Amino acid sequence: MPQARFLGHSCVALTEGDHRLIIDPFLTGNEKAAIKQEEVEVDHVLITHGHGDHVGDGIDIAQRCGATIIANYELANMCGKQGVNVHPMHIGGAHDFPFGRVKMTIAHHGGGYGEDASIYTGPPVGFLVTIGGKIVYHPGDTGLFMDMQLIGEMNEIELAFLPIGDNFTMGIDDAVKAVEFLRPRRVIPMHYDTFDVIKADPNEFAAKVKDCQTIVLNPGDNIDF
Ligand code: NI
Ligand code: MN
Repeated sequence: MPQARFLGHSCVALTEGDHRLIIDPFLTGNEKAAIKQEEVEVDHVLITHGHGDHVGDGIDIAQRCGATIIANYELANMCGKQGVNVHPMHIGGAHDFPFGRVKMTIAHHGGGYGEDASIYTGPPVGFLVTIGGKIVYHPGDTGLFMDMQLIGEMNEIELAFLPIGDNFTMGIDDAVKAVEFLRPRRVIPMHYDTFDVIKADPNEFAAKVKDCQTIVLNPGDNIDF
């Protein structure tokens, strides 16, 4: 049975059998992170976009673990130049990996890397990860978009992680609409409370979501799916 562990902000670790991957490993510099980057042991690192709170420790983890970074073409190449294994993909494309399948989806957001986010790392993306036969949707940072309806229509999503923190991404009401579009079996809020400007109440989100189980995970919590 695959397992998801929420590590804080937008960082999610997925495991199934011997397969271990991590998405958006922003651990160093996040006071609320459940673990330190040195504790991460993975084979793949998925990164949604170039912002520091998503690339996070990704390059260091890939270097230390010999893991492969999966990211859009521009961001993957930037990481590859630093000597790590990369697998570049792009929006609309899917690929089979040892742990399962990854499809890259659109996201409405920015995508620069570096202290002022001025290094071009392509557009932001989201991921549909099929692992243990179940589909997990991690949209990265994004505003609400109508194509979520199509993503929901074409994929039986078991678990959707959705940003609710507002300001940089969807806020609660738009995330509630996203649940309507995506129709996942379970939804987990993320990308809130890490900084003052993205304070949000996950219980308000849970109360507003209809026809879907909302699970509020604290950093470090696991869920089998
Ligand atoms: Ni961002
Ligand atoms: Mn972010």
